[in-house]
Amino acid sequence: MNSGTWRFPQVRSPAFVRPHRTPVRHTPQATTFAPLRSEPHNPFMDQNILTFFHSLLRYAVLLFVAAAGFVALMGWLRQRPILVYERMLAVVAMVLCHIQLAIGLALYGMRFKAFELMAPSHQRYWKMEHIAMMIAAIALVTIGRMLSKRAKEEPIKQRHVAIFYLIALVLMLAGIPWPFTEVGRDLGWL
Ligand code: HEM
Ligand code: HEM
Repeated sequence: MNSGTWRFPQVRSPAFVRPHRTPVRHTPQATTFAPLRSEPHNPFMDQNILTFFHSLLRYAVLLFVAAAGFVALMGWLRQRPILVYERMLAVVAMVLCHIQLAIGLALYGMRFKAFELMAPSHQRYWKMEHIAMMIAAIALVTIGRMLSKRAKEEPIKQRHVAIFYLIALVLMLAGIPWPFTEVGRDLGWL
């Protein structure tokens, strides 16, 4: 029945490619879901001050983009001029987005080697999906704010912020590696 040659048990979806070590025996359960932080063989993914800040800043970004978007929506529906605090919300949301973008770009450079050691679906997420969705979202926020700044009529100012910020909000919510998604399973809420 057995040919006599011993082979490693086949793992359907290996969490990480291990180029430099002799393979370690895994249980399929342990490897089916690729762990990010808890995997000792991916030394490039350790938490640092930048990942912590990027992770924390997500909540401020979401809060301000949502607040600016919704107050602008109310202002647009009521056809009233933009108020000082509404403009401040839109500006602060945009600045927070830009800070998040700058940190994200730095992290992306730092992490590129780590992505190579991940399962293909995680690689695709971190190399392409997160960055593409977030840059698109931040671009929408920037465009919305710029159009709003340049618009002549007050309700139009409200309309640009409302539409662009709320679409960006949806993109951001979709692009975040939340703990209940496959890719964010080991990242937690902070
Ligand atoms: C990768 C980094 C960044 C890129 C590519 C970027 C890009 C841009 C662009 C395209 C604009 C619109 C310019 C215009 O047409 O008026 C802008 C505006 C602005 N950015 Fe950034 N930015 C970056 C980082 C930052 C950072 C780190 C901050 C603040 C800490 C920041 C603060 C601002 C502010 C305050 C405005 C003007 C906002 C307004 O008047 O409504 N940006 N940025
Ligand atoms: C609104 C914009 C963004 C939000 C809300 C966001 C949110 C997040 C969150 C929650 C994480 C997981 C952090 C952790 O727990 O370790 C993360 C990781 C990451 N983000 Fe973003 N992100 C944004 C934009 C960007 C952009 C524009 C880039 C790249 C240009 C980027 C690159 C990265 C990278 C490389 C990681 C992996 C960090 C690591 O854990 O090692 N992010 N992001």
